[in-house]
Amino acid sequence: MSFAQPLPATVPALALEALTHAYAAVPVLREFSLTLEPGEIACLLGPSGCGKTTVLRLAAGLEPVQHGRILINGKTVAVPGAGLPPERRRVGFVFQDFALFPHLDLVANIAFGINGDRAAAEAWLRRIGLPDRARDHPFNLSGGEQQRVALARALAPRPSVMLMDEPFSSLDAGLRREVRRQTLALLRETGITALLVTHDPDEAMAMADRIAVMRAGRLVQVGAPEEVYRRPVDRFVARFMGEVNFLPAIAQSGRAETPFGASRAERFADGTRVVVMVRPEAVRADPSGVPATVIEAQRVGGLADVRARLGDGTEIDWHWVGGRLPTAGEAVRLAADPAEFAVLAAGSAAR
Ligand SMILES: Nc1ncnc2c1ncn2[C@@H]1O[C@H](COP(=O)(O)OP(=O)(O)OP(=O)(O)O)[C@@H](O)[C@H]1O
Ligand SMILES: [Mg+2]
Repeated sequence: MSFAQPLPATVPALALEALTHAYAAVPVLREFSLTLEPGEIACLLGPSGCGKTTVLRLAAGLEPVQHGRILINGKTVAVPGAGLPPERRRVGFVFQDFALFPHLDLVANIAFGINGDRAAAEAWLRRIGLPDRARDHPFNLSGGEQQRVALARALAPRPSVMLMDEPFSSLDAGLRREVRRQTLALLRETGITALLVTHDPDEAMAMADRIAVMRAGRLVQVGAPEEVYRRPVDRFVARFMGEVNFLPAIAQSGRAETPFGASRAERFADGTRVVVMVRPEAVRADPSGVPATVIEAQRVGGLADVRARLGDGTEIDWHWVGGRLPTAGEAVRLAADPAEFAVLAAGSAAR
């Protein structure tokens, strides 16, 4: 073994190493590892109860590490039996309920974590677009404004890592989008590393450089949004990320046949039962496509969700765009590009 270990190009801002955790002997995390590069925004995504908040609480120092290790900027901050307290980890948090101090005005709320520096707090208020609200109290603000103040309060002490647990979930859908955009802009502008928890795949795809999908305490897949969406590792991830059709097939000579054509399936041995993932938006009406009969169609704004049955009985959901909405019983022809499909093990966990 060489002693001259090559140094990594950058020291990760946050490294969570093989975290295994249980509450009163009930296992919650199993060998969970994730590394964030400086300035990276990552989302933890997964169903309720899969352990997302537990990961954040461990990173923050609100929960002692049982197995594994946590490093911030290359420095160990927690191992079993020892850990820096939250205030010495240089992490910022924004939780679901914002938790602003109701009895303090906005300047005092933001100045709280920076030794009462009101001038700096006022600069943050300008930065988040609330320059004239210094003397207001949180209860005079809209949900979106409160969320921005909570973010400014967490960013003001210039933490190394920002931890955010479903920070937009108490906002209604329209506002959530707007606040999400502002938050992302502020995180990018400050170049801060952030780990954000959500159970909304669209939110994760809108915010994250990388998405870490969790299931039952384990990391199932980590990758860029495009990768996780288009190349999920299994049926669970495929379905969790968005609407999906699974067409059963048998791998043969590195291919899996579907009514739309063959998809590449080199990693499966001949005769393996697989499912071919076809996203509804990959399917389109096409005069030279395969014949199908519309079962039902539902308009959703300018699009429609249509279900159709192919000649072999396969039912397929597709996203129809423009023109007259097809009606039940109508004959259509459908096409899709097999290069857009992903071939997955048939036996991999469905939800
Ligand atoms: N303090 C605790 N004591 C005992 N069990 C807990 C505690 N906190 C969480 N749990 C349990 O651990 C599991 C993981 O909880 P966690 O809060 O990490 O999930 P989550 O992914 O954040 O879920 P959600 O999306 O609902 O917020 C759940 O089964 C939960 O009931
Ligand atoms: Mg949670």
